[in-house]
Amino acid sequence: MQLETIKTPSLIVDYQKMKRNAESISARAKALNVALRPHVKTHRCAEIARIQTENNFGGIMVSTLSEAHFFANNGFSDITYGVGIERGKFAEALEISREIERFSVLTDDAETVQELNQTAKNENAKLNVFVKIDVGAHRCGVEPHTAEAFELPRRISDSSNLAFAGILTHAGQSYHADSPEKLLAVARAERDLMRRLAEELRAKNIEVPVVSIGSTPTMSAIDNLQGITEFRCGNYIFYDAFQATLGSCRFDDCALTVLAAVVHRDSTRQRIVVDAGAVALSKDRGAVDFDAGCGYGRVYNLAGEDLNLRVESLSQEHGEITVSDEKVFNQLKVGSRVRILANHSCLTALQHSHYHVLDERGKLVDRWEINRGW
Ligand SMILES: Cc1ncc(COP(=O)(O)O)c(C=O)c1O
Repeated sequence: MQLETIKTPSLIVDYQKMKRNAESISARAKALNVALRPHVKTHRCAEIARIQTENNFGGIMVSTLSEAHFFANNGFSDITYGVGIERGKFAEALEISREIERFSVLTDDAETVQELNQTAKNENAKLNVFVKIDVGAHRCGVEPHTAEAFELPRRISDSSNLAFAGILTHAGQSYHADSPEKLLAVARAERDLMRRLAEELRAKNIEVPVVSIGSTPTMSAIDNLQGITEFRCGNYIFYDAFQATLGSCRFDDCALTVLAAVVHRDSTRQRIVVDAGAVALSKDRGAVDFDAGCGYGRVYNLAGEDLNLRVESLSQEHGEITVSDEKVFNQLKVGSRVRILANHSCLTALQHSHYHVLDERGKLVDRWEINRGW
């Protein structure tokens, strides 16, 4: 099957670009002397996780327990669950921890620590627990200068059936940095706040085995990671229109596109409609704060050339695109195919059930399944 004939909409991963992204971030992690733990929520695919971990220590982060089971069944033995644990998931987390060498969870809540320890004790199990730190995103985590940032690690360390794994953060605010200088400042603050907290905890005789940070924008910007032991980024494996606009990568590094077909042509309005709507692309607004006209994706032809078009509006199965250039409009007939680079690859990928793998000669050479659900 080839791009001209495969059913649309379909998810296409450009193997060479993806491999290059994996290799360049692995090399960067080595140069910065940190262990790379890729966040596999971006793709939820065993083949891709193997490529990301082949030159690293093998650890991954997941965003759901479904992924934890899936990757455990695919031979991954060091997994951190990246969303705060709550009592509804204790039993399943303990079950996974029995199946693999190292399973870690995270929390920012004292009562959860107590309840989790009690549950682990009742089940005669032991679990690794990170404390989630908020370095400025204000989504989850305890702020590093607060009493809780010291009490929680102490509480976990003192728990009979929990092991304090270390401190962990995700600088989500890096996605709002609108200049390279601001991005570098976010990346340095993420590092410095975490390094300082680790030093202060150690000064209070609390062992901090892992100091874990990471996002794709901060990894692209940071110059030195002294004091940090682990870096977790995920989106870098595909990148996307948002990351390229932000400056984390070039547009040419983006490895994931949605193959779509033209299903309607409107000569009066110089407009085409493709069969990739919100369900195929996701409705993430991407870099709209930096590029008001970014729409829901950029449009390329099958040869990978940028047609300088945007998907302007989306309904469930339709994407609408204005094509002002007469020459381009004349090339796009009903049935013509385009590749759409969406705003946020993590969300786009998870709308689909599998990837089609495209090699450097433009041939589809493999099909890789995507784990779904929670
Ligand atoms: C806890 C955590 N760690 C790491 C990441 C990876 O960040 P990115 O996708 O920017 O590489 C995320 C992304 O949301 C996250 O939530």
